[in-house]
Amino acid sequence: EAAQKQGFDWYMRKEIFEQPKAVADTLLGRLNQHGELMLDELHISPELLRRVNKIVIVACGTAFYAGLVAKYAIEHWTRIPCEVELASEFRYRDPIIDPATLVVTISQSGETADTLMAIRHAREQQAKVIAICNTNGATIPRESDAVIYTHAGPEIGVASTKGFTTQVVACYLLGLYLAQVRGMKYGDEIAAILAELETMPRLMQEVLDNQAPVLELAAELKDAPSVLFLGRHVGYPVALEGALKLKELAYIHAEGFAAGELKHGPIALVSQGLPMFVVVPPRGRDQLRDKVISNIAEVRARGARTIVLAEAGDDEARANADTFIELPKVSTLLQPLVATVPLQLFACELATLLGHDVDQPRNLAKSVTVE
Ligand code: G6P
Repeated sequence: EAAQKQGFDWYMRKEIFEQPKAVADTLLGRLNQHGELMLDELHISPELLRRVNKIVIVACGTAFYAGLVAKYAIEHWTRIPCEVELASEFRYRDPIIDPATLVVTISQSGETADTLMAIRHAREQQAKVIAICNTNGATIPRESDAVIYTHAGPEIGVASTKGFTTQVVACYLLGLYLAQVRGMKYGDEIAAILAELETMPRLMQEVLDNQAPVLELAAELKDAPSVLFLGRHVGYPVALEGALKLKELAYIHAEGFAAGELKHGPIALVSQGLPMFVVVPPRGRDQLRDKVISNIAEVRARGARTIVLAEAGDDEARANADTFIELPKVSTLLQPLVATVPLQLFACELATLLGHDVDQPRNLAKSVTVE
């Protein structure tokens, strides 16, 4: 087993460090030398994809948060309305789906019972189902009309890490492909995002190489009774994922909030010394960024201990940071791929310091195969 962990203490930590390769492998073979997307593996005709008038993403757990990230990108690129729903809620509310609905399920294992039931329900209503999955030949891809595999390699740690980042990438490829087949007039923007996606493995590696401040932070915060995470736009699901990781691994109360909701409740939780992670959008999204930066000042004025994740050189974001975690410069939609990594490392390290079994957290299973 030690050999399989390749010198890492946990599979999870190894898998966090495998993300540059996992993302590179997920992109591999899907872009031609002209930087155009090739998703022939989809086996759903472009004709049919042009008729889609609604996308519903269905998933559980971390995969659901990957779906929440994807919604922002898919709607922006395709202008097709996109809903994201927990698989366990989907089937029971009699969702409005028909043959023009594209259901996208996301599942690392491909065996999650709720997600599988959602697929069966969707197909009964004649919707087309595309699975985004990491496990070749699992039940979910077998029961779907088409599959886009994430090539993350086996994920052993119960808490999903490289599963998540590769799911985001696969969803983005699907969104960009839909935009391409539907002839959206964003030629340059799509080409730019594809080119930027290809740089992600290198940028994720930069984040991993700079893990020391995150590890120190975990040591400092290991006795915190509660930790909050704030984010806006795609940073919001990143905040949710950061909180989920901490709950799962460290058994610490943690919650993620949309930064814009701060004044509608979460700010009441702020007390002296409360650790608050804030994900700041990159420069260029200045309207959003300004608002998030003023949120940092607001919570700090009330005593929060702020941990700010922002682009390198963002001095305004740094001004109210007790701890500043530098992220590489990327466009807004790609920021989740780099911003999630320090949050994964933080949870893994903190749980390690608390003496918990990081790979097998109490009461959790890698794949939930009962409803
Ligand atoms: C379990 C795992 C999570 C995972 C979720 C969905 O809760 O512990 O890490 O995100 O299931 O699993 P799936 O295999 O469908 O992505």
